[in-house]
Order: sequence, then structure tokens, then C-alpha cells
Amino acid sequence: AKGAAMVTAVAYRLTDQARQIQQTLAEFRLSKAQLLEVKKRMKVEIERGLKKESHEEATVKMLPTFVRSTPDGTENGDFLALDLGGTNFRVLLVKIRSGKRRSVEMHNKIYAIPAEVMQGTGEELFDHIVYCISDFLDYMGMKSARLPLGFTFSFPCHQTSLDAGILVTWTKGFKATDCEGENVVELLREAIKRKEEFELDVVAIVNDTVGTMMTCAYEEPTCEVGLIAGTGSNACYMEEARNIELVEGNEGRMCVNMEWGAFGDNGCLDDIRTVYDQAVDENSLNEGKQRYEKMCSGMYLGEIVRQILTDLTKRGFLFRGKISEALKTRGIFETKFLSQIESDRLALLQVRAILQQLGLDSTCDDSIIVKEVCGTVSRRAAQICGAGMAAVVDKIRENRGLEHLNVTVGVDGTLYKLHPHFSRIFHQTVKELAPKCDVNFLLSEDGSGKGAALITAVGCRQREMEAQ
Ligand code: GLC
Repeated sequence: AKGAAMVTAVAYRLTDQARQIQQTLAEFRLSKAQLLEVKKRMKVEIERGLKKESHEEATVKMLPTFVRSTPDGTENGDFLALDLGGTNFRVLLVKIRSGKRRSVEMHNKIYAIPAEVMQGTGEELFDHIVYCISDFLDYMGMKSARLPLGFTFSFPCHQTSLDAGILVTWTKGFKATDCEGENVVELLREAIKRKEEFELDVVAIVNDTVGTMMTCAYEEPTCEVGLIAGTGSNACYMEEARNIELVEGNEGRMCVNMEWGAFGDNGCLDDIRTVYDQAVDENSLNEGKQRYEKMCSGMYLGEIVRQILTDLTKRGFLFRGKISEALKTRGIFETKFLSQIESDRLALLQVRAILQQLGLDSTCDDSIIVKEVCGTVSRRAAQICGAGMAAVVDKIRENRGLEHLNVTVGVDGTLYKLHPHFSRIFHQTVKELAPKCDVNFLLSEDGSGKGAALITAVGCRQREMEAQ
């Protein structure tokens, strides 16, 4: 009888444990009503960012980009492009040919930016960038060319023209000193001067979302929205000039860099943020900022997972109750690991092998729980990202007074590209939350580099026209 009682006690503990784990994860499972609410709040923040009187305190900044049209195929020339702010730093040479046989040819090299440079002084950061450009030009044998350059700089910038951008605040893993409040194009020009090795003509500063939209629009003219779901999360779209109160003129459209990652920084998402989201925020380089981004981008999803796993371990539900060094390591669950863990083609034994690789000893039961935690966190990410996008496409539809809108969204980013479920859940959410829009998604191939070059080409053409 004693044995039977023990068995019942164990069984009870197990079901109780399962119940408690489910209770923890339930906070991440959002209902359609909650997602519609996220969409609605995003819409409110969009309006606040666009309006002059509310812009100052608005969290979603809706920054004008001075890109007034998508490409028309007449872009032509050789351009240098820089891509800073994603998973890799790259320097590219982009050759665009117009005419009947339009083509874009690209050469690029990836460079590492060590964490101490990302978080050192601004001068060191820009010297390092120029050092990489110099290496690239040597490699291509093009040091004497004085090429026009497009600088994809994937951070919030207050632009007053195509080639001026004041850094509002660093995001993601960057924190170099003396850059916030400065015109980063000038910082780059000064670093090029300091090096005294080559000259460049910096024509445009470009957000990665805008580069992505332009790249896709080059192939598909209905593309008027750009999305990055990668290390960070952000979107841009073609807004009516009359609605952009920060810029003079009411004619036509201009692309707006939303900087939607900061959505929620005024507390408007607090009801859906969990204690784990708060812990991730407190542990980050930019506490209190980019709260939406911290719920839905690659740099932070793994951190949310780590916070949940740590808590479940402390409560004795995982890893035999033992917090390992690995579990204490920030950034251990990179997007590529989450993607592997959640892949349906992987057997649990393989999940355990991945955890082992990361230094986590797991039982079979552990691996089931870990997989469920990952799935729950990434599903919520895809859904709230979809809710944001639903607000954007509906805004465009309303702008144009349409009952129904057909639109294409150009997309890039490691999370979107690598993760086995993110894109599907994201698409499904947009469809459900914006039923009056037919949204087509186009993957951008090398959006940041190509897009920067296309914008630079348009910029050069505009300059020539103004000179005439
Ligand atoms: C961050 C940046 C934003 C960028 C996004 C994706 O949110 O602030 O400018 O577009 O990451 O890289």
C-alpha cells in the first residue's frame, strides 16, 4: 500500500509539474482579441509618430527617409555599399546595369566587428569600418575610383536629406560612445579623411528595411513595404507625403522608417509582457528601450527562452534542478540553435545533442520541455510581428481609400529566413488580422547591399537633375 501511495504521489507531482509549466507558458499564448489589440495600439503609435505635435514623445518614430520613389529600372553605375547593423558587417561593390538587359552584379566581403569595437568609442568604430573598406578596395583593385557610396546603417536616424542621418539611439548590441546625436555620414567622412588612403562620395544613408523594400521593388513594383525580422525587428513603407508632418510638401509619397522596435516603450504593451520579458530587458544593454523588438527579434528570443528555462530549473522542473554555467550564459541560444531545436525533422535525440553542444545536459523529458518553450516563444514573436504588419498594410489601404488592397512586402532577416515556423505563423497572422488586404511576401536576396546601391543610384540621378 505504501508503494502504491508513492506511485500516486509521483504521478501527482508529474501532472502538477506539467500543469505548472503549462501555466507559465500560457502567458505567451495570445488570443486573437489580444493580437487585434496589439494591431490597434500599433496604429495609434503610427499616428503619433507622424504628427508634429506628438512626434517628440512618440515611441514609434516614423522617420522620414527622403526616398520618394521605388526604382524604375533606369538605375545605372558602379556603387560601393556598406552594411552595418545586421548579423554581419559587409562591404560590397554593386554594378547596376539599366536597359533591356537589366542586371545587378555584386561582390562582397564579410568582416567581423569585435564586441569591444561595437562598445568602444565612435572613432574606433568608424576607423575600423574604414579599415575594412580599405581592405576591400585593395582586394577589388579599386582604390583610385572615388565611387559613390550607400551606407546601410540599421539604426534609428533622424534624416534631413538622403545623405544626412543623426543617430537617435543605438539599438541591438551596439553602444559605441560619441555617436548618438551625431550625423553618422559625417563620422564616416571624417574617418575616411583620417585614413588618407582613398576618397569616396557618400551619397545616401539607408535603413536596412528601406534597402530591402527597394531591392524587392526593383523586381516587383507592388512592393511598398519592407520588413526585417532578424537580429532586430523593424519595418518601413511608402507613406503619403501629406501625412508626414515632419517634412514640408504634400505631393506624392515618401518611405518612412517606422523604427517599430521601440513600440511599447511607453508601457502600452505592459499587459502582455511577462516577467521573462522584463528580465530580458533588465539584462540588456538598453534597458527600457526597444521593448517590442525584445519580444520578437532574433537577438532576444533565445534570451527569453533562457529566462524561462532558468526559472523552470529553479522550480525543479528541468535539468534536475541544477543551473549550469551554460544556462547562465547570455546569448547562448542564437537564432540558428532555436531554429534547429524547433525543426520538425529533428528527433528528440538530436535536440538533446544540440543542447549538449551548448553545454546543457538534458534528459529526454527535458528536451521535450525545451522544445515546447522555444516553440511558444517564437510563435508569440511571429504573431505580434504579424499584428504590427497588419496595422501597416491596413494603414496603407486606408490612406488610399480602398476597400481592398493588394500589396507586396519585401522581407529579409535571419529569423524569417532560418526559422522553421516563424514565417508561416507570421503570414497567417497578417492574413487573419488584416482581412481586407491581400499581402504578398517577397524574400529579398541581399537586400541591404543591393538596396543601398539602388538608392545611391537614384540619389546620384536626383543630384544631376538638380545641377542642370
Ligand atoms: C533595430 C534598428 C532598426 C533596424 C532593425 C533591423 O530595430 O533600430 O533601425 O531596421 O534593428 O535591423
